[in-house]
Amino acid sequence: MLSNKTSKIKEINGLEIIEMKSVSGIKEGSIYLADYISKYKGKKVLDMGCGTGYIAIYLSKLGFDVEASDINKNAIKNTLINMESNEVKFNVIQSNLFSNINNKYDIICFNIPFNMFFFPFDNLLKYYFDKFGLSEKMACLGNRKLSTRRKKFIFNFLKQSTNHLNPNGFIIIHSTCNDVKFLEDKGYNTTLCKNFCGRYGVYKINRRRRNERNNNEKQSLSD
Ligand SMILES: C[S@@+](CC[C@H](N)C(=O)[O-])C[C@H]1O[C@@H](n2cnc3c(N)ncnc32)[C@H](O)[C@@H]1O
Repeated sequence: MLSNKTSKIKEINGLEIIEMKSVSGIKEGSIYLADYISKYKGKKVLDMGCGTGYIAIYLSKLGFDVEASDINKNAIKNTLINMESNEVKFNVIQSNLFSNINNKYDIICFNIPFNMFFFPFDNLLKYYFDKFGLSEKMACLGNRKLSTRRKKFIFNFLKQSTNHLNPNGFIIIHSTCNDVKFLEDKGYNTTLCKNFCGRYGVYKINRRRRNERNNNEKQSLSD
């Protein structure tokens, strides 16, 4: 049983979702992402970076064939708890991007994390940033080092995704317009599905145009 100190309960779209403290909570982006994907009935979906599991649970309730994964073991635990309490069942895999994923999907969705903390003490830093309400500010600082890391992370995700998409499969992300501009520059086809708060949006990303792939791969990621 989770204590009130370590978790919150949210009711969203008929679902009761527990948010554990050490897990990324449901935000507007999560809701828009799930809502947008819901129109692709019958597709097999991977919810990458599932957090509380909200997106996968929402889609599973609608009859989608889903799988969910996250690098954070607490997110896996949180998803399993929410999956059970909302009476759905699907595979939940702990994985750093696609490191433990073998399947292929029609849709891979990712609500891209904003805090690019990757050092051993990252969780501690994140704890204090969250505690003092600084996480969003840090994410918005966009200093060169952080944004270069972020670009590399997103680029890596998209590159690895191509091995896990069925023919005609595609990717849907929630991210910032800056990230998407970077992806366009790298030759990806992006379509804005839903814009909110000016700089955030849900975007559909198609595989890169073949003729642009080689040229762009030669360019540095940090430009
Ligand atoms: C913005 S949260 C989204 C959570 C959830 N999908 C939602 O929309 O509410 C991003 C999630 O990505 C996960 N994540 C970060 N790096 C990852 C990686 N390398 N591989 C898989 N998941 C990752 C985080 O643990 C976090 O749960």
